[in-house]
Amino acid sequence: MTESTPSTPTAPSLDLSALEDVTTVACVGAGTIGGGWAAYFLARGFTVKVWDPAPDAAERLGRLVDAAWPALRQLDMVDGAAEDAWTVHADLAEAVDGAGFVQESAPEDLAMKRRLLADVDAVTPPDVVVGSSTSGFGMTEMAAEVDHPERFVVGHPFNPPYLIPLVEVVGGESTAAEAVDWAAAFYTRLGKSVIRMDQEVPGFIANRLQEALWREALHMVDHGEATVEQIDRSITEGPGLRWPMQGPMLTFHLAGGEGGMAHMLDHFGPSLKSPWTRLDAPELTPQLRDAVVAGSDQAADGRGVAELIAERDAGIIAIRKLSAEARAPADADDGAAAPTPDAGP
Ligand SMILES: NC(=O)c1ccc[n+]([C@@H]2O[C@H](COP(=O)([O-])OP(=O)(O)OC[C@H]3O[C@@H](n4cnc5c(N)ncnc54)[C@H](O)[C@@H]3O)[C@@H](O)[C@H]2O)c1
Repeated sequence: MTESTPSTPTAPSLDLSALEDVTTVACVGAGTIGGGWAAYFLARGFTVKVWDPAPDAAERLGRLVDAAWPALRQLDMVDGAAEDAWTVHADLAEAVDGAGFVQESAPEDLAMKRRLLADVDAVTPPDVVVGSSTSGFGMTEMAAEVDHPERFVVGHPFNPPYLIPLVEVVGGESTAAEAVDWAAAFYTRLGKSVIRMDQEVPGFIANRLQEALWREALHMVDHGEATVEQIDRSITEGPGLRWPMQGPMLTFHLAGGEGGMAHMLDHFGPSLKSPWTRLDAPELTPQLRDAVVAGSDQAADGRGVAELIAERDAGIIAIRKLSAEARAPADADDGAAAPTPDAGP
């Protein structure tokens, strides 16, 4: 999770570009995540070339960038950037031509990712690093059909990628350490907060933690123990308020009072044996699915997706600004905008 991934003995060395020479990025797949990446790359001053087989891909991307731009502007991240510096291409080879980095964000389907990464590999010069947005597959399994696995890395973002700083970066068994280093440096230069993992773990870090919460929430709905609304409020009005400042570990350090984590563990250690969690996922029956969908519609209370996205984005912007201010009052403006505010080509 830190310094370097051990290089595999067989990984050929790569002739990678200097980060500042990358001015064009290709986004392969431009839905919620690929489109969000595209908006972020544009804001950081890159030219973005897109390949997405959906006939309405360009219209959807236009709507997504239009919605993201005001949010990015509020974080002072679009100065000098061109909102319209993107093109959608009918041909994959054309889309990656001239790109110094490729971000793949196609649907989470292993067979599809394998085929797609092999196609990307075939048309992209072998020294260009390719990052995948996968939520949980390892690069070892995704790169099974490529000829140049050494340049393929996972670069896992969080929705919306134009506002959430975290990117988890990890290679597969055949990824060259220098490609993982390069990707981590590239995302950092863009202003992302990078966690560079040394080991492939299904779901990486944050999704393993989110999934534990999600599985328990589904169990509680399934058993009639809590409604969708109660589950959401238990976090937004409860522990969620602490998380922008301190993660789950430091939060529990403070739960131990002056005795810190040591007292917390000694005090609440026995609770670890209590039946406070089930963790194994429940069976997603049609009844459970319907209950969760109906509860979510009720919680949305007539607000459509675009309205909820605008509300979410405004909230994330406010929280980023406030938590940066609370951490470091002296440089609140810089901290809220991005860890590396001058990133871009
Ligand atoms: N949605 C999230 O919260 C989230 C968060 C982090 C990572 N991810 C990951 O990002 C990736 C994309 O997820 P999403 O939520 O944007 O999905 P999505 O359904 O919104 O978008 C997928 C896009 O890929 C396009 N597509 C379909 N087949 C393709 C192909 N063969 N090649 C290229 N593009 C193709 C679709 O037309 C669509 O535009 C997945 O790997 C997912 O696990 C999603």
